[in-house]
Amino acid sequence: MKLILMGPPGAGKGTQGDRLAARFSIPRLSTGDMLREARKAGSPRGREAQRYMDAGELVPDDVILGLVEEALATPAAAKGFLFDGFPRTMTQADGLSALLDSRSSELDAVVTLDVPDEELVARISGRRVCGACGHITHVIEIGDDTGCAVCGGPLIQRSDDSEATVRRRLDVYREQTEPLLEYYARSPIGLTVVDGTGSVDEITEALLAVLADTADEVHG
Ligand code: AP5
Repeated sequence: MKLILMGPPGAGKGTQGDRLAARFSIPRLSTGDMLREARKAGSPRGREAQRYMDAGELVPDDVILGLVEEALATPAAAKGFLFDGFPRTMTQADGLSALLDSRSSELDAVVTLDVPDEELVARISGRRVCGACGHITHVIEIGDDTGCAVCGGPLIQRSDDSEATVRRRLDVYREQTEPLLEYYARSPIGLTVVDGTGSVDEITEALLAVLADTADEVHG
């Protein structure tokens, strides 16, 4: 299964992407996670990315396409993948298309999660992420807990999750990424829009329902 999961910041791409990736036994390829890893490792690419991320701006396309090319070349991605947060610009969509062509590969589905802006801001400002295993949660779920429910690791707030940066990230999404929805809707593969409001379980069910036919075709 080769999927793109799209949607604005805070729509639930990471939360649902983890579940879909587990369900279809494919890696979740999040360019945001790749950049945060590079930043943690203190690599030149990570240091360059940091100032864009903290300002809520997009990291340059050549950096992103370099990361994606490396990820697609790994054995884990040989049979399928789920992109989370990529592509975000027309240049990235064209770059992905060229990378897939060069591997005689093609996408099976492009799905986007639809969530109103005010809910996105509330979700992101309360998000906490486990510094050890990456599990995503929210202050509403954890109450006074300071440890991850999955592995006990420390829960942290992302440096780009302040309300001001979130508003900028939403503007950047509308300006640079939303046009891709039309691009994929007009492509032969089409775009599937899923309501991203409701409980996490309900949204997972809705995603699995719209992907059922594709999964049957891919897995037989
Ligand atoms: P990235 O890490 O990709 O962030 P994003 O796209 O802004 O998306 P988020 O991770 O904020 O949200 P999400 O949709 O994954 O939601 P989540 O599941 O966590 O990118 C960060 C930065 O890196 C960018 O700003 C940019 O600078 C750079 N970057 C990354 N990729 C790039 C690219 N391709 N090109 C250029 N630059 C790039 O959920 C959010 C919260 O909501 C959580 O607290 C969760 O618990 C909660 N939640 C989830 N579902 C529900 C629900 N159904 N109900 C209530 N709460 C929910």
